[in-house]
Amino acid sequence: MTELHRLGREAYIDPVWHEREVDQLFLNAWCFAGITSDFKEAGDYKAVEIGGFPIAVVRNKDGDLGAVHNVCRHRGATLFDGNGGNIGKSIVCPYHRWTYGLAGELRGVPDKQTCFPDLERSKLGLKPAGLGIFKGLVFVNPDPNANFDDWIAPIADQAWPHDLYASDVREAVPLVYDVKCNWKVFAENAIDGYHLAYLHEQTLGGPTPDKNVWEQAGDHMIWYANEEGVRHRLPKKIRDENGKIGTIKSAQQAGFGGVYFLFPLTLVVPTPYGLSITALKPTSASTTRLTIRHWVGPWQSLDERKYIQGFDKKTGIISSDNWTRHPLETGDFQTEDVWICEKVQQGLQSPAFELGPLSLGPGAEDPIRWFHRSILSRLQVSD
Ligand code: FES
Repeated sequence: MTELHRLGREAYIDPVWHEREVDQLFLNAWCFAGITSDFKEAGDYKAVEIGGFPIAVVRNKDGDLGAVHNVCRHRGATLFDGNGGNIGKSIVCPYHRWTYGLAGELRGVPDKQTCFPDLERSKLGLKPAGLGIFKGLVFVNPDPNANFDDWIAPIADQAWPHDLYASDVREAVPLVYDVKCNWKVFAENAIDGYHLAYLHEQTLGGPTPDKNVWEQAGDHMIWYANEEGVRHRLPKKIRDENGKIGTIKSAQQAGFGGVYFLFPLTLVVPTPYGLSITALKPTSASTTRLTIRHWVGPWQSLDERKYIQGFDKKTGIISSDNWTRHPLETGDFQTEDVWICEKVQQGLQSPAFELGPLSLGPGAEDPIRWFHRSILSRLQVSD
């Protein structure tokens, strides 16, 4: 028997629901923030945002990697600009120049004797955030006490397609999309096995639900497809964890998945010779920013942005605001996905929207049920 979605319309459009997710889900959510080689020198940092929490990963002078909330303890200015770089030997707030060490300890307060005679520096260091590393990928969590091992454990022993450091892949210029949909609409599309043969008929070309399967790994999910199921999507040659090139006919045959959804905000997708890692950044109840880092083979362009419809050279953002062709004419499955997610969001905004049935099966829409269950288990709402 078919079953309705478990999350109602308000979960996708209501700012109050979004705030609930910030307080109860994102406050303790792991998300991809970078790779260990982003942080070679003391002061190297990456700045990310997890559901409204600005966080920075920074290597300190002792060589340790740490994560802090990117919020000054004086009046709240953010301290790390852009996506990343090197902050120098200390972290200086541009507003009143409070100065922090690279581990977040408060070191200097201008005019302290005059303006803050009683201030105790030891109580006003940058707030720590959680940090974990898995196969060279760095994840952060707004909660400094969040248990990374518990979160990663369900996939820790699963076959993993790449070790970035054993392969001679090159990192391409990241892709940044602003998508006009709730983050869950995009995530649900990514784990929806039912649409592949239909929305993507001209690009991915399948598979149909009987030829692919999602497997649960805790709250995470891994997608596998059989040989006939994926005609155009999976790489024919790929490097294994030891950097050896092999020829594969399917992800299932190769033993690793074609998509890894790391609940709730990270997607890892093997590509020929490399990986693509997408971090979802919920920016409001109805908007999401996607940042996609990808590592490519020698024949691939290091900057694919100019080939993607909607890329704005001035802002560096890809958005449907700049589309000039119909998405189904672009030959790009990601553009097709953005298009359909924005159309779903438009439909959800309508007061006439009613929950419809979800298809059955791990190769269809079962993963959306699992996703909803994981979300509801963290939110204080009636199921
Ligand atoms: Fe940072 Fe004042 S807000 S020093």
